[in-house]
Amino acid sequence: MIWKALLSTAAILAHISPALSIPTNSSTISTRQSNDRYVFAHFMVGIVKDYQLPDWKEDMLAAQAIGIDAFALNCASIDDYTPTQLALAYTAAQQTNFKVFISFDFAYWNNGDTAQITAYMQKYASHPAQMQYRGAAVVSTFVGDSFNWDAVRRGTEHAIYALPNLQDPALASTVAARSADGAFSWLAWPTDGGNSIIAGPMTTVWDDRFVHFLDGRTYMAPVSPWFSTHFNTKNWVFVCEDLPTRRWEQMLALGPDLIEIISWNDYGESHYIGPYSPHHSDDGSAKWAADMPHDAWRRLFKPYISAYKAGAKTPTVEADEIVYWYRPTPKGVVCTGDSLSAPMGINMLSDSIFVATMLTRPAVLTMQSGGNTPVSIDVPAGIVTSNVTMGVGRQSFTVRDDWEDSGGWEM
Ligand SMILES: *[C@@H]1O[C@H](CO)[C@@H](O)[C@H](O)[C@H]1NC(C)=O
Ligand SMILES: *[C@@H]1O[C@H](CO)[C@@H](O)[C@H](O)[C@H]1NC(C)=O
Repeated sequence: MIWKALLSTAAILAHISPALSIPTNSSTISTRQSNDRYVFAHFMVGIVKDYQLPDWKEDMLAAQAIGIDAFALNCASIDDYTPTQLALAYTAAQQTNFKVFISFDFAYWNNGDTAQITAYMQKYASHPAQMQYRGAAVVSTFVGDSFNWDAVRRGTEHAIYALPNLQDPALASTVAARSADGAFSWLAWPTDGGNSIIAGPMTTVWDDRFVHFLDGRTYMAPVSPWFSTHFNTKNWVFVCEDLPTRRWEQMLALGPDLIEIISWNDYGESHYIGPYSPHHSDDGSAKWAADMPHDAWRRLFKPYISAYKAGAKTPTVEADEIVYWYRPTPKGVVCTGDSLSAPMGINMLSDSIFVATMLTRPAVLTMQSGGNTPVSIDVPAGIVTSNVTMGVGRQSFTVRDDWEDSGGWEM
């Protein structure tokens, strides 16, 4: 069985009088708590060995369009094209006024690689396109919990700001001892820790532990829309469902120092929000990621990113849209010709269709899923995710506002 996350966006209703859209209510936006909130996206350099400058720039412009400030460039030590692609990424970022920083993937790097890591930091820490935070060059990792940043810090002329990924939040109380400035969590999906799968929904229990153990040091929180993978080496789903909006609501409530979206282009784990680049190398995930665009999730994330940066507790919707997502098959479907077993966790998924309404005023959402009876739901203004039982066949969505004074509209 091959699991796919399908995402689409409906046509945007054109005939809404601008006068009817809800103006920004400044009292709902708390005074800017901090003017140094940034949103990053995790970028897998390992699948872009053939990228050229225009490919990088295209991704960066798409990220910038929704308010992403920088890519965290996930690099493996074993890829001989890492230096070439890093150089291209820094050049492209400089040309697009975007920022980047390196995220050393410690599935490949190890604690003995200090000299090589220092050399990379020395090369890029003062580059004009390097992401700086509080005057220092950001550097992060995937795992690498026990790496000591002291030698890298001493060997790099420009100040560095180390935000390593920690698998165990309790280790956050010892970041200073390893010369780090804060921590990044990878626990972006409902889990009891590591890769254990629980029914969900997502909570902030792990974020709260990080914040507690960091005791005022910088917390970089993860935001991810989805997780589904089907390789022989890793074969599971996390229970995501309404995670694309639920997680952002948690972020607006929590207001972490920094946010990293997981991910921009990890097609294999199905959590990409970037375009399905024609020039990436296929790690085998094309079987479940090709023709499964996630682009509409960027439209959904944009108002949340902007609210997070403004310190607002709710996103401001500027144009009426709906974004919907669902797997193209019910979970019980048996796929012939698949040598792998069904992904772990599938029994916890619900066969549902999810729709986020992004509305400037209340309306009625009607969804018809396959042969099921249409379901109508009153939806308020703002961003709300609703769901209905999945039916096989055509999926249709209608949003109606029947207010007499607006003349009614439909999309
Ligand atoms: C702004 O929002 C607050 C809280 O929701 C509300 O009390 C107030 O009336 C609103 N002001 C305007 C001008 O809409
Ligand atoms: C809506 O989704 C939740 C999971 O997020 C599920 O528990 C519930 O049964 C779904 N409802 C329908 C009508 O599909």
